[in-house]
Amino acid sequence: MDKCKLSCKIGPSILNADLAQLYEESERLLDCGADYLHLDVMDGHFVPNITFGHPVVKCLRAKIPKAFFETHMMVSNPEQWVEPMADANVDQYTFHYEASKDIPSLCRKIRDAGMKVGIGIKPNTPVDVVKEYIDLADMILVMTVEPGFGGQAFMADMMPKVKWLRENYPELDVEVDGGVSLDNIDICAEAGANMIVSGTAVVKSESPKEVMQDMRSAVMKKL
Ligand code: DX5
Ligand code: ZN
Repeated sequence: MDKCKLSCKIGPSILNADLAQLYEESERLLDCGADYLHLDVMDGHFVPNITFGHPVVKCLRAKIPKAFFETHMMVSNPEQWVEPMADANVDQYTFHYEASKDIPSLCRKIRDAGMKVGIGIKPNTPVDVVKEYIDLADMILVMTVEPGFGGQAFMADMMPKVKWLRENYPELDVEVDGGVSLDNIDICAEAGANMIVSGTAVVKSESPKEVMQDMRSAVMKKL
């Protein structure tokens, strides 16, 4: 059996970086081995916090033409920002299951706009809700904190969701996001996550390179 269609990807979240230096911080993380940038977009409505939107992402893209950009859309009306994010040359548009009124048409809209589709679920959302949309999605994101803020404690009780996805969809990209660090990367890997978002643990570390390398080797061992 070909187990290795999946690859491990480490995507630091710049949420807790110095946002006044968004470009420099992003470059630093890419130089340190990040596979992609996880850009946390919040609207102050779906979550009780505001970050940045497509104008900032577009400016960042102009300075970083090549890296893979995932926008994690923690917004109430994800349909609204598909075109502006496509225009900003975003590679993957990850929206929340809880926020969309018509998931199939949103998924199609994202693909038609030339982006990959990610569907995220909050901690209180059961994982099997995504079953009927798997064919329309490129990735499922299992939140391991309540979305809204960086630096929160990792919820290990989300791992059965990751495990369920990995068992049922061996080739699906499964991402974890929230409180992921070297203290819990092994259980993420064991459960089957292959896309790892980590904010504080990478950005605040003295050696983001080593942290990302260690995360990668923990995941690779299990793929
Ligand atoms: C949470 C965000 C994150 C997260 C990552 O709402 O989606 O991407 O803050 O940062 P850490 O790893 O610090 O939780
Ligand atoms: Zn995120």
